[in-house]
Amino acid sequence: MEKNKLDVVLGLQWGDEGKGKVVDVLTPSYKVVARFQGGPNAGHSLVFDGDSFVLHTVPSGIFREGTVNVIGNGVVIDPVILLDEISQIEARGVDVSKKLLISKRAHLIMPTHRALDAASESAMGKSKIGSTLKGIGPAYADKTGRNGLRVGDLLQDNFSDLYEARKQRHQQLLQQYPPFELPFSFEEYEKQWFQAVEALKRFPFIDSEVYMNQILDAGTPILAEGAQGSLLDIDFGTYPYVTSSNTLSAGVCTGLGIAPSRVGKVYGIFKAYCTRVGSGPFPTELFDEDGEKLRAIGHEYGATTGRPRRTGWLDMVALKYTVMMNGVTDLIMMKSDVLDGFDTIKVAVAYKEGDRVMESFPYDGGKNVTPVYKEFPGWKTPLSGLRRYEDFPEAFKKYIAYIEAETGVRIKIVSVGPDREATVVR
Ligand code: GDP
Ligand code: IMO
Ligand code: MG
Repeated sequence: MEKNKLDVVLGLQWGDEGKGKVVDVLTPSYKVVARFQGGPNAGHSLVFDGDSFVLHTVPSGIFREGTVNVIGNGVVIDPVILLDEISQIEARGVDVSKKLLISKRAHLIMPTHRALDAASESAMGKSKIGSTLKGIGPAYADKTGRNGLRVGDLLQDNFSDLYEARKQRHQQLLQQYPPFELPFSFEEYEKQWFQAVEALKRFPFIDSEVYMNQILDAGTPILAEGAQGSLLDIDFGTYPYVTSSNTLSAGVCTGLGIAPSRVGKVYGIFKAYCTRVGSGPFPTELFDEDGEKLRAIGHEYGATTGRPRRTGWLDMVALKYTVMMNGVTDLIMMKSDVLDGFDTIKVAVAYKEGDRVMESFPYDGGKNVTPVYKEFPGWKTPLSGLRRYEDFPEAFKKYIAYIEAETGVRIKIVSVGPDREATVVR
């Protein structure tokens, strides 16, 4: 950690790499944890003291004593989900009102955004994105279309007029879609929505960009927490099968109001294999017993939607691309223990399309490629009880060394289980 710089944790694959766990583990070294993009499409799991918790909008530093948690301007907030999350955290004895700040510039997800998300997905049929149906795409579309509602608007006298004008526009749009089933009761949700925005007014709505810069100037250690993953980035992910925000380290600057010169360490997190929820290219996806084994042992089911995650081998072509795009300074490897029982572990080192061999990540995300694999002997030893790098089996050390050599970045932390404690820092 460098004084007057902010560190970042972000996912290098398609999300669910274990960002929540890592942020919770790193938080004791920081005073402030800030989310800079995404919304309740995120599901970040924390496991400690024999209990587990899933966070969607609140930064993963919330359970650590004395940490301030900021929801930055780049985030989109569903007030109903945020309030519910806060109530659940408070039920665990955490006084959230003392440690949560919300940017006035963060955008609000309206009930009609959720309806538009459902309408759009339904209309796309087989080519649907597989969105989390949380209204993320429509809310960001209104933001860039200069038609959004922001947290700061809640304090304006004409808030209900602003809301109604947007709602009417959304309703006109909804009529353009073929008939579809709304997965929630609109009237009920809208009622809860208005109750929730009132309840959220007890939290400070702040100019978070000013706050962040002031505390940086004062030397306060800050950790920025990414959501989703680099391959879901709106510009560089497997478009159009992506989310609607910039998930890369560059998003920290616009999502918090921080200059590029102030970004310090970039912790890039990846699983020792790969998963993806929703549609879109996934070159190393497995449809065999190994894929099923990864899903079963890794409990690969969505933390937000409960959907089974697609599973596959580690993809070095994609990983090198996202390490490059993020300027990763330190790697963190998660869920290594899930590979304990495999005789052979594979890693994609290139893609083949017809006779053409590719070593760089293609424009279409590798829609029609076949991976070229390198094989590693499995370590066949349980890793979850180990706490020192020196105690790792040789075969596992070789896997680590290979990834470091290929990416040119050191693996600083190895996670060997879901609990806070199951972490090896080198
Ligand atoms: P996030 O969205 O990046 O925060 O990740 P998720 O919480 O959606 O998914 C990661 C899942 O893996 C959660 O269920 C975690 O509890 C679990 N997990 C995290 N690290 C490890 C690990 O090293 N080993 C195992 N077996 N599970 C882990
Ligand atoms: P965390 O932060 C995994 C995926 C969805 C879908 C696509 C677009 O827990 O890693 P959206 O609802 O954003 O319009 O969906 O992005 N997706 C995620 N996949 N983890 C997430 O968050 C995700 N957030 C969105 O499944 O394919
Ligand atoms: Mg998740």
